Amino acid sequence: MNDQQRRRPAKPHRRPKKDPVRFLAFEALRAVDERDAYANLVLPPLLKKARAAGDFDNRDAALATELVYGTLRRQGTYDAIVAACIDRPLREVDPPVLDVLDMGVHQLLGTRIPTHAAVSASVELARVVLGEGRAKFVNAVLRKVAADDLDGWLERVAPPYDEDPEDHLAVVHSHPRWVVSALWDALGGGRAGIENLLEADNERPEVTLVARPGRSTTEELLTALGEENGLPGRWSPYAVRMAEGGEPGVLEAVREGRAGVQDEGSQLVAAALAHAPLEGRDSRWLDGCAGPGGKAALLAALAAGRGAALLAAEKQPHRARLVERALAGNPGPYQVVTADGTRPPWRPGTFDRILMDVPCSGLGALRRRPEARWRRRPEDLEGFAPLQRGLLREALAAVRVGGVVGYATCSPHLAETRVVVEDVLRGRGGRPAEAEWIDARPLMPGVPALGDGPDVQLWPHLHGTDAMYLALLRRTG
Ligand SMILES: C[S@@+](CC[C@H](N)C(=O)[O-])C[C@H]1O[C@@H](n2cnc3c(N)ncnc32)[C@H](O)[C@@H]1O
Repeated sequence: MNDQQRRRPAKPHRRPKKDPVRFLAFEALRAVDERDAYANLVLPPLLKKARAAGDFDNRDAALATELVYGTLRRQGTYDAIVAACIDRPLREVDPPVLDVLDMGVHQLLGTRIPTHAAVSASVELARVVLGEGRAKFVNAVLRKVAADDLDGWLERVAPPYDEDPEDHLAVVHSHPRWVVSALWDALGGGRAGIENLLEADNERPEVTLVARPGRSTTEELLTALGEENGLPGRWSPYAVRMAEGGEPGVLEAVREGRAGVQDEGSQLVAAALAHAPLEGRDSRWLDGCAGPGGKAALLAALAAGRGAALLAAEKQPHRARLVERALAGNPGPYQVVTADGTRPPWRPGTFDRILMDVPCSGLGALRRRPEARWRRRPEDLEGFAPLQRGLLREALAAVRVGGVVGYATCSPHLAETRVVVEDVLRGRGGRPAEAEWIDARPLMPGVPALGDGPDVQLWPHLHGTDAMYLALLRRTG
């Protein structure tokens, strides 16, 4: 027999079939990886385009969203599982191949998609976007992954809790180890609490609306949503929770800016500042870090109800424009300015109430930004530190004696929260601030588990909110 005769007849070449849902999810994952894009910004235009082309219905859009968000959130766990199934270091696997693999692992271990469908859809995607050779590699890896369920894999790939608690939690709950440490330091307590927090970070947050007082009411929003699609907020008197899959834009009040989308934690922070006890004049309010304007819109509505005016300041001009948009139609006086809060254009002692919702690592909003945990580095905190201190110091100078400053972050990291406030009060790196703590806890009535005070830390697993921090300070001299 010659070579020609020995060779098996070649299979007829079949062109790979492009599955639009998985292809779109892959495109989004690549954009997040290659261009440092944000999933919540990349995905909506891709979905819109697919819908316009007639490729997608609501179920397709929901599946694509789940594949992108689920893969990004659980990437740490999935990478550990893939690493156990290959015989070379994970860093030697090309990023596009790893994206297809992680998305395949998500379908196998994190969804109800049947095993054969998860493997064959992933291999088909690999044929389209990676080529035949790599598709075989994807097939081999996913077949190994499919041999066990998630719990089985976690037992194999996560170090035992007793040997290394933080590494164990990092792999099981898919967070970088340094983030696990930082969150645990801030939360305190034992294993159950931190596990609940890390798991809450992996869940999709509810969509919460704010009825801006004087412009809309929770009753209006609940009536418009109907019993099936709306629930009252848990803690904020202005909040309404939407049922899963609800689209805020269908509500007239949202389209008109009388209501908006806002986490309840942010609502609580703005309301606590607005309701902090104050003697004397109460007519000049400042939001010193206002972009994109969520808290400013609530503050402006509350200020209007009290005859006060809000100045909303933001350093970035394009974000100041977003603030303009958020405040449009506010019934009371307000002004939006582009200004640097560390070199403020206003005179000392001008304001009665100031909110400084400072730039931060965002470690309290990991539910919303699935890629953020992998992108942040511990060094980032050092970058924010001088800015956070500078903004708080200037706020304490800009408020009148007896006035109130709210220092807020959407991070629970101690280096961005209490340490900043204590440094500024004690005068580390400058003169001690003439200010005293106000207990913020009574200003969030009905909200449990607010800690020992005087500052407040909210938590996703305890309050269903982002992990917002608020310190309230009164200028004393
Ligand atoms: C955490 S965000 C504020 C979120 C906002 N309060 C809201 O609820 O929509 C911080 C904002 O501060 C702005 N910022 C950063 N440095 C600033 C500075 N030196 N002065 C004023 N704003 C600044 C950022 O551009 C960003 O828009």
